[in-house]
Amino acid sequence: MNDLVIRQMTEDDEGFFLELISLTGWGNTAEDLRRILYYEPRGCFVAVLDDVDTGMVASTGYGEVGWIGNLVVLTERRGGGVGAMLMRRAMRHLLDSGASSIRLDAVEKAIPLYERLGFRVEFESLRFTGTGEPAQVEGIEAMKASDLGEVVELDRRFFGAPRERMLIRVQGDFPGLCFVARESSRIVGFIMAKPSDVSVRIGPWICDPGRPDLAEALLRRLMGEATGEKLWVGVPEKNRASVRILRDNGFGSLPTSLRMCYGRCEPMGEVAGRFSIGAADKG
Ligand SMILES: CC(C)(COP(=O)(O)OP(=O)(O)OC[C@H]1O[C@@H](n2cnc3c(N)ncnc32)[C@H](O)[C@@H]1OP(=O)(O)O)[C@@H](O)C(=O)NCCC(=O)NCCS
Repeated sequence: MNDLVIRQMTEDDEGFFLELISLTGWGNTAEDLRRILYYEPRGCFVAVLDDVDTGMVASTGYGEVGWIGNLVVLTERRGGGVGAMLMRRAMRHLLDSGASSIRLDAVEKAIPLYERLGFRVEFESLRFTGTGEPAQVEGIEAMKASDLGEVVELDRRFFGAPRERMLIRVQGDFPGLCFVARESSRIVGFIMAKPSDVSVRIGPWICDPGRPDLAEALLRRLMGEATGEKLWVGVPEKNRASVRILRDNGFGSLPTSLRMCYGRCEPMGEVAGRFSIGAADKG
């Protein structure tokens, strides 16, 4: 291989980040770059091949589990090992930061690459798309900053690792797209969403599995808020209640991804309460 250097990604890489994202159709925005750098300032990398920026990857750590996403290499430079080098750098960062497992959502074509690096398939990570529409929904409230303590606790039970840095940031950035459901006065479910250039991406969407009615009410409240907008959501295949709710609300399937895991891969949290993934690149 020629001269390949891996360096830290910074906010100055916005133009390159958007150039690579434009090759994928994922629709990530400059705000997404700022958020991934906020979550893991030293865990996002750019590959420089012969002095030319060539690829990127981003990691996000949640204590013992880490996530990798946003792996993209310039089209004309693919197949030369740059993607594998970026992955190894991001994996090392997460393992050095204390992660004992690393997870990611893989498109089919990338599976051989991840398998070579030691990742194994865990389950199918389903993808759905729908359209927001007006909805009359009772009993679902806008999420307030003062709800975040309870939201973080609920999320930890079902996700299985601490995500407060992400939850607090998303509520702060998009308060109009975050809602909670209560039973008596206790929060038993919440939904969040983030706009992208191509759709409103739902996630996390967490709810007590004993209250699928509230999980559906959360989705319908969000659909009402995003009337006329294209919606995107990723769902762990084992959450059949979520699949039923999405189909009942007019969502259709997109090509699936595969959740893959490296290291100590015990199941996390309680999948029955995870009605969606948080994000394709962050778990
Ligand atoms: C995935 C990607 C970063 C790999 O970069 P790279 O520098 O070509 O990677 P390497 O040379 O180290 O490895 C090549 C492997 O990439 C994978 N790959 C090849 N074309 C791909 C494509 N269009 N999309 C995704 N992965 C691809 C294959 O697993 C390939 O291994 P194989 O030759 O045994 O089939 C690059 O193909 C890309 O940018 N794809 C588009 C974005 C994407 O799909 N990212 C991954 C999301 S999970």
